[in-house]
Amino acid sequence: MDKFVIEGGERLAGTVRVGGSKNAVLPLLAATILQKGIYTIGNVPRLRDVNTMIRLVTLLGVRAEWVDKNRLRIDTTGVDNHVAPYEVVKEMRASVLVLGSLIGGMRKATVSYPGGCAIGERPINLHLQGLAALGCEVAIREGYVDVTANALKGGRVVFDAPTVGGTENILMAAVTAKGETVIENAAREPEVIDLVRMLKRMGAKIDGEGSDTITIKGVRSLTPCDYDVIPDRIEAGTFLAACGITRGNIVIEGCVPHHLKAVTDKLREAGMDIIEDGNSLRAAMTKKRPFAIDIKTTPYPGFPTDMQAQTMALMCISKGVSAITETIFENRMMHAAELRRMGADVRVIGNTAIVTGKDMLSGAKVMATDLRASASLIIAGLAAYGTTEVSRIYHIDRGYEAIEEKLKGLGAKISRRKDEGMGS
Ligand code: EPU
Repeated sequence: MDKFVIEGGERLAGTVRVGGSKNAVLPLLAATILQKGIYTIGNVPRLRDVNTMIRLVTLLGVRAEWVDKNRLRIDTTGVDNHVAPYEVVKEMRASVLVLGSLIGGMRKATVSYPGGCAIGERPINLHLQGLAALGCEVAIREGYVDVTANALKGGRVVFDAPTVGGTENILMAAVTAKGETVIENAAREPEVIDLVRMLKRMGAKIDGEGSDTITIKGVRSLTPCDYDVIPDRIEAGTFLAACGITRGNIVIEGCVPHHLKAVTDKLREAGMDIIEDGNSLRAAMTKKRPFAIDIKTTPYPGFPTDMQAQTMALMCISKGVSAITETIFENRMMHAAELRRMGADVRVIGNTAIVTGKDMLSGAKVMATDLRASASLIIAGLAAYGTTEVSRIYHIDRGYEAIEEKLKGLGAKISRRKDEGMGS
């Protein structure tokens, strides 16, 4: 197992480029099994979760090959299996995204029922209710969700709450269903819109993406396509928080600034200067310490839960008291206890963390508990006095491509080492 060793105190400066979005590429890869043929997907980030999705679709009969550093050639002509096994699904919950595409492409899917994860229970009841509304028969057998869709037809799907994965699964199931499907209270995230854009390029008839009502008119067949993944807004946001905490001055290239509006608005309120410049963000922190800001995570276009942990790290050195409320996942505050080990004053009451800013954090040995928590601990380490060691960084490799190289390029003192104290 690897760990990161960080010597805090360097102000980040320079230019960094963000990669393709993890949460966009996973459903796009799943969508290739909707229609047999050859696809090329570009701007694919080299991440552990992407490798896991490739492993999964390979088991279904896909042949995937890297033709360039960030470009995949996907051949789905041999897809002949509809079973997503426990061994893969237990490693990555997003495996459940093949449910919709297997239904859309093969009219049957058997997918291991995903368990909870570190940040919450994460049920899939809304995915299954939505599939039932499209005429699917859904059964749970021996830990697997078994779905058959002999009479797949359009239907009205009303989500109790917006669900990103649920919206994506219903979209993929509905594109070849007979008749019209309407998804109400649909998720509006850019990653959902990206999936719709790829489906449209394949010939799907979809309207209303980006709003809370999406209408899909089923088509008889689709055509494979070439597609480039949108930039990762959470990776960009993570660099913004790192810039803020180190009083840095950086340019983030290759992003879509309006996808980050909720984040940049809040970071400006915290005292950062952020300028949108085409596909770049220029960010600088000239104040000694950020102002305290309050944050509440909500579905897009609100403040993203995937930026909550990183912003909490920034607030640990703010001038004042900040209230950070997590409304999406019930257990996404595990980084608070680790930040406390670095001298932060964080109290968690229910789903709100009260963070009283301190002058300084102090380096410590801390443990990553999930992907965004790892990013938060790295950010804290960049500003802490002394050395921070972040262990269990396999979490970060799930969702950030070469983060230590990118941070080093901005002047951070961070290195990846073998963690002798941990099993491998
Ligand atoms: N929910 C249900 N029932 C369902 C589906 C969802 O109760 O059937 C609940 C969830 O438990 C959660 C809320 O609805 O409380 C929202 O969950 P959603 O379905 O929107 O999340 P997801 O699709 O499982 C994606 C991202 C997450 C991101 C969330 C919210 C992917 C692969 N994952 O998860 O990304 O936090 O949307 O924006 O797209 C991350 O990248 O670190 C990450 C966790």
